Amino acid sequence: MLLRDQKTIGNFKRINITTSKQMAVDLLLGLQWGDEGKGKIVDVLTKDYDIIARFQGGPNAGHTLEFDGIKHVLHTIPSGIFHKEAKNIVGNGVVIDPVIFQKELENLASFKIDFKSKLLISRKAHLILPTHRLLDAASEAAKGKAKIGSTLKGIGPTYMDKTGRNGMRVGDLEMSDWKKKYRALADKHQSMVGFYNVDIQYDLEELETAFFAAVDKLKALTFIDSEQYLYEAQKAGKKILAEGAQGSLLDIDFGTYPFVTSSNTTAAGACTGLGIAPNQIGRVLGIFKAYTTRVGSGPFPTELFDNDGETMGRVGNEFGATTGRARRCGWIDVVALKYAITINGVTELMMMKADVLSGFKTVKICNSYQYKGATISHFPYNVEPKNVRPNYIEMPGWEQDLTKMLDVTQLPENLMNYIIYLEEVLEVPIKIVSVGPDRTQTIYR
Ligand code: IMP
Repeated sequence: MLLRDQKTIGNFKRINITTSKQMAVDLLLGLQWGDEGKGKIVDVLTKDYDIIARFQGGPNAGHTLEFDGIKHVLHTIPSGIFHKEAKNIVGNGVVIDPVIFQKELENLASFKIDFKSKLLISRKAHLILPTHRLLDAASEAAKGKAKIGSTLKGIGPTYMDKTGRNGMRVGDLEMSDWKKKYRALADKHQSMVGFYNVDIQYDLEELETAFFAAVDKLKALTFIDSEQYLYEAQKAGKKILAEGAQGSLLDIDFGTYPFVTSSNTTAAGACTGLGIAPNQIGRVLGIFKAYTTRVGSGPFPTELFDNDGETMGRVGNEFGATTGRARRCGWIDVVALKYAITINGVTELMMMKADVLSGFKTVKICNSYQYKGATISHFPYNVEPKNVRPNYIEMPGWEQDLTKMLDVTQLPENLMNYIIYLEEVLEVPIKIVSVGPDRTQTIYR
């Protein structure tokens, strides 16, 4: 609300304007190539927030949460859904596949969640049509060896339609002619699939039957003008956490293009994906693993092809939560992390999966690159292996099993040295050390 204090000066009116206070919005983002463990941390932090709002990506994400001995994977639904009080918002920057969304809702049936009041969907979020998935498959198949390694959930084609101003939005489903719009777009997509000249087998009728049934389920939920909802919530003093998907190195602008996803996974994406003004951002929580992983194609300077990489993958159970693909593994990359921290304005860090590194005699940290004959400490335009070689420092590892540790004082000295070194070079405090997938395996510093 604007408070006006008017004083007349000659013919002019001087207006003193005071804006009333809004609660800042905190952000939570992945700093690597995704799969950092954002779902677990959002779930752990939700008790401190009234609203959890997803701001980009779609069912390419797989946010894993574990509690009471059961593992849950969410794709589109925000990770605050298991908490009684929190509202969960799917923001305008998210792309929704109604079929996958419906399956997610079905998987949560036993929790008896009142979705109508707890799960609110932005009218401006775009819809993934069955033909978007076909286009994704055709585009990837046509790329051959140069394929992105997409999750094939139709993400790229849906964001292309969004920026190309052809997309269908959740709000369209409230219009009487939405099926006409759907048909025109789906027909266009079908002819585009033909242009790729690849063999894609599909039964569109079957896909559409499932799609229309899922849309009916989606329409039973609550659609909102989420930017207005969030603005009013902020003014009412509600605490909001914006939940990112994927990771900063998959950002469409700042990631390892073209091996990236099609949205802004970085802090700016929270502004556009929720309608939050930049000056309303509060804490920026950056999540990273104690090592690095990547799923899909693209450069990865610290990737390991030896037993160490194999051990990280096996102990860390590094398989994609959405596609089941084995993730590529490597040592921690401080150059890439610093880049992500800078772009996002990270104010505090959370280190995940420290327990996976237990048992390594030494641990390595990449703190610069050899790049075209010189040593550099910034993330360059091109990080292809032919240009970039990682320089490492080595530190003594730790043997102890961390998974039952409850307090920072129990952490082994060599792990503490690793943490302190990272804090010094990254210049941001590490506030949480996660030592296992369960909610309870979380150590606060
Ligand atoms: P898309 O977003 O499905 O098109 O995939 C583009 C690239 O991002 C591929 O390399 C995917 O493996 C990767 N990717 C997309 N979503 C995730 C995620 O949630 N975690 C990790 N990698 C992802």
